[in-house]
Amino acid sequence: MMRPASVIALLGACVLGFATAAAPARAQEIELPTQSWSFNGPFGTFDRASAQRGFQIYNEVCSNCHSMKLGYYRNLTGIGIPEEDIKAIAATKMVPTIADDGTPAERPALPADHFKSPYANDKAARAALNGALPPDMSVLEKARAGGADYIADLLNGYGDPPPGMKIGDGLYYNKYFPGHQIAMPQPLQPDQIVYADGTKATLEQEAHDVATFLTYMANPEMEQRKRIGVKAVIFLTLLSGLTYAVKRKVWADVH
Ligand code: HEC
Repeated sequence: MMRPASVIALLGACVLGFATAAAPARAQEIELPTQSWSFNGPFGTFDRASAQRGFQIYNEVCSNCHSMKLGYYRNLTGIGIPEEDIKAIAATKMVPTIADDGTPAERPALPADHFKSPYANDKAARAALNGALPPDMSVLEKARAGGADYIADLLNGYGDPPPGMKIGDGLYYNKYFPGHQIAMPQPLQPDQIVYADGTKATLEQEAHDVATFLTYMANPEMEQRKRIGVKAVIFLTLLSGLTYAVKRKVWADVH
């Protein structure tokens, strides 16, 4: 048998442990400006046009350095890109295959293929990028405190360092990166992208769009999950009402 005092001590330790584990360390260091996102809230959905512009940015810019190994080209149906277009997009990438004679070869990608990685492996990426490793983008939005806000802020967060701050070799000042020195050169500039849909490509617009796309890639099931959640709440509300009505009827004579 444990003595009550030790039980209380154990419970206390558990509570403390939870409290410290739950504290988001990064979020407290730097205050992140927040934006309004189409996918926030219980009825939120992905802004298809924004996510498609975000894919254009990923495809033209980010995918030169970052892999997105868990994503498939066919995932693009979820942001409203027609199947024919997805086929054409995939076909512009060459992926490894094995020729009939058993030698390594290349073939155009298909919608069922994973997004093509820019480097064969992490070592090759580091060798090309001054020793820095761009994180895989598949679940980047989930992996960083602040999610879409953090990604958008980071892309808007380049600038001159405050006076007196020394920036290391091959690093760049960024207001929102923990430690403020990031190995990624500013990837987006105003008007860098010529949007297929004619939207004006301010830096803020570009950052917002690519963050929307990366949020979709990290949570492709989100809209369905929210729809089920809303239905469950409606169902439970109706069920509660019904149960209460039955209770009143059953007990009516007793009161
Ligand atoms: C020239 C190569 C290059 C390009 C292009 C590039 N990145 Fe990066 N990115 C990097 C590297 C290297 C790192 C790792 C930085 C570090 O750890 O200091 C990184 C890190 C990041 C991070 C993670 C920061 C963190 O918290 O760890 C995000 C988010 C990011 N990039 C987004 C993007 C987006 C969005 C694009 C396209 C608009 C993009 N990157 C284009 C090289 C690149």
